[in-house]
Amino acid sequence: MNDSRETRLTKAFVVGYPIKHSRSPMIHNFWIRTLGLNGMYEAAEATPDDFPSFLASLRDGSSGYTGGNVTIPHKEAAAKLADVPDDLVEELGAANTLWVEEGKLHATNTDGLGFLANLDEQADGWDKIESAIVLGAGGASRSVIQALKRRGIGEIHVVNRTADRARELADRFGGNVHAHGLEALNEVTTGSGLFVNTTSLGMDGTPVPKLPFDKLNGNALVTDIVYVPLVTPVLQQARRYGLRTVDGLGMLLHQAVPGFEKWFGRKPAVTRELRDLVLADMAGHK
Ligand code: ATR
Repeated sequence: MNDSRETRLTKAFVVGYPIKHSRSPMIHNFWIRTLGLNGMYEAAEATPDDFPSFLASLRDGSSGYTGGNVTIPHKEAAAKLADVPDDLVEELGAANTLWVEEGKLHATNTDGLGFLANLDEQADGWDKIESAIVLGAGGASRSVIQALKRRGIGEIHVVNRTADRARELADRFGGNVHAHGLEALNEVTTGSGLFVNTTSLGMDGTPVPKLPFDKLNGNALVTDIVYVPLVTPVLQQARRYGLRTVDGLGMLLHQAVPGFEKWFGRKPAVTRELRDLVLADMAGHK
């Protein structure tokens, strides 16, 4: 850490539209407090029209921010407007973490890393598998597919209601990423060791169709990237089959680590206390 960072107030943001429901300020300010840093992390709202000028003021230093997170709907625009997108961002076409170095706007995407760190922490050895199922083909699905591919998972099956969207992702990532419509779910699930839900299935109160969890291998893991509620309808089904499950809250916490380290110069820890803080907030918003 350099000297000026110790004395000067370091400011970071999360920008989105709308932004008021973001839990990122709670997470980063918890770390600022517990590490005793002279820092601040705040929510910033920018419409899609305003977003380019928001980034311009970050780049030229006039915003006073060291960097920040980007959330819906600006992740794709951030990837396009960054001066130095890393290879994760280039491949995904979406960025969630920004910082400035020598007047240049750098971008990375930490969602995939958060996904992997959560599973590594909660389900040691989960990656000793031949194939994985990713249900859904939206923005969140992309980060999961990229992460699984980079971890070296042999076969990745993307299954989506709209098969064309799954196909777009298979084309983007190539090789061992295969696209299917929902009708193939039974077949591709057979013998698989990991099932990842990236859809909002069941969240709108409509019943969730019975998923073929009996076809997974006996030691399989089921995880969800949705974390409200903590035990989603998909995880509930998996538990009924006695399968191992990991909730999505850890992904939210772990994806925040690299950005914090970049802006504030200290690597923060994902602790039980932090998880409980976010859980208490979720309970308060029921
Ligand atoms: P995100 O960027 O958060 O991943 P998204 O782009 O809106 O969100 O994608 C949502 C995903 O959930 C999509 O894969 C969507 O399927 P379609 O591509 O067919 O729309 C999936 N999804 C949402 N509701 C669903 C439902 N009731 N049944 C099956 N899939 C559903």
